[in-house]
Amino acid sequence: MKVSQREVLLFGQQSAVLAEELGRLLPGWRVVMARNVAEALTCLGHTIRPMIGLVHIGRLVTELQDALEDICAVVGVMEWIALVERDLLGTVPVCKFISDHCYDFHTLPLDAPRLAMTLGHAHGRAELRIRNSYQHIHPNQFNMVGSSPAMQKLFASIDKIRGSEAPVLVHGESGTGKELVARALHQNSHRADGPFVAVNCGAIPAHLVQTELFGHEKGAFTGAHQRKIGLIEAADGGTIFLDEIGDLPHDMQVNLLRFLQEKIIERVGSVQRIRVDVRVIAATHVDLERAISEKRFREDLYYRLNVLRLNVPPLRERCEDIELLARWCFEEFSLEKSSKVYGFSNKALQAMRAYSWPGNVRELINLVRSAMVMSEHRLIRPEDLGLAMTGIRDDRWIEVGTLDTVVGRMERDYIQQVLEMNKKNVSATAKQLGLSRSTLYRMMMKLKMNY
Ligand SMILES: Nc1ncnc2c1ncn2[C@@H]1O[C@H](COP(=O)(O)OP(=O)(O)O)[C@@H](O)[C@H]1O
Ligand SMILES: [Mg+2]
Repeated sequence: MKVSQREVLLFGQQSAVLAEELGRLLPGWRVVMARNVAEALTCLGHTIRPMIGLVHIGRLVTELQDALEDICAVVGVMEWIALVERDLLGTVPVCKFISDHCYDFHTLPLDAPRLAMTLGHAHGRAELRIRNSYQHIHPNQFNMVGSSPAMQKLFASIDKIRGSEAPVLVHGESGTGKELVARALHQNSHRADGPFVAVNCGAIPAHLVQTELFGHEKGAFTGAHQRKIGLIEAADGGTIFLDEIGDLPHDMQVNLLRFLQEKIIERVGSVQRIRVDVRVIAATHVDLERAISEKRFREDLYYRLNVLRLNVPPLRERCEDIELLARWCFEEFSLEKSSKVYGFSNKALQAMRAYSWPGNVRELINLVRSAMVMSEHRLIRPEDLGLAMTGIRDDRWIEVGTLDTVVGRMERDYIQQVLEMNKKNVSATAKQLGLSRSTLYRMMMKLKMNY
């Protein structure tokens, strides 16, 4: 009977002698040897894809730990079995390493039947895990990637309101995906075959907004050589997306309001009333309630637009999505060019999780894309992403201290961040944090925070 050869990676400094011994003792197994991460990645990338590894533990456990993490970051799923000298088993770092990283351990000298059995089990287990984890990341039906509870909630809301004709107001920081949400609403509505017209209200010079949105007749003003169909009319049968609605000049807000009430437009220079069938989706990154109180935004227009509301959460509030989005971008851009880079190092993933992402998903996409081009290594490092210390929210992930001090520091930082987002408004901050004002004040006093 022909037994297909399974492969095992042997990793460690002394692997040459052991490899030879293992080769003799383990028929049915092909042993591939690597003394360092570079060698391991070469084997994994070009020759084989072993799903299990034997790691020979010498004294330098910390280095081994980093190495294993780097290898696993590329391979995704590997089951490790430690080969360890009996006298090292009693040492704390070795025990911790084994319990943190290994499926099983085997003391030297080698006991071939026992090791063969352990390898067999590990192989079976790795196969099971591999079936679950080698799935490509696909955007969902809304063309979006995200599995955090916050995004699940958003997707459920999109699904609920996509069929409605009522205006939608999408709120969220820049780069969070507001336009993507608007497109999702359009593409998943009965208007999907109609046009989707996106207008950035902040990018049109104030004196042109009227004609851009409503169009004009030939001769309506000097220079109007021909009739021009406005953007609202161009969206007839579809959706108009009014991005950065907070930047719409005040006098235009009245005209837009009238349109929302009547669904009728008049081109500049014409008295003809044209009925237009469009769904309006507006987006803003500014706090419109505040703009209303400062008389920069009309309250009546706000209520017209804010019939259905979607809030797109910033990336720092959905840490679970960071790695998913990074891996998805990586897959997307790998198709674009033959990148030598295999994936992210654990340190890069750690740095990404610790970063506050002021530019949200847009910033993440840009950093990953540039790192893939610029990286000199097989695994993207924090430096390739520009996240080597500077720009990272803080060095929390290498911070040491008692649990109380570290948690206290994290609470203080987070409260500070939310306070700043809410322009130091304590009531709004308390609401966002799910606390009462008095609890928040008490916490701030306890944490010695200024406000
Ligand atoms: N959840 C997501 N999944 C995939 N891509 C996303 C997601 N959110 C945002 N993006 C991408 O990030 C970039 C910025 O999104 P965009 O909708 O323009 O943000 P905003 O309008 O809020 O500034 C776009 O390239 C968009 O495709
Ligand atoms: Mg936008």
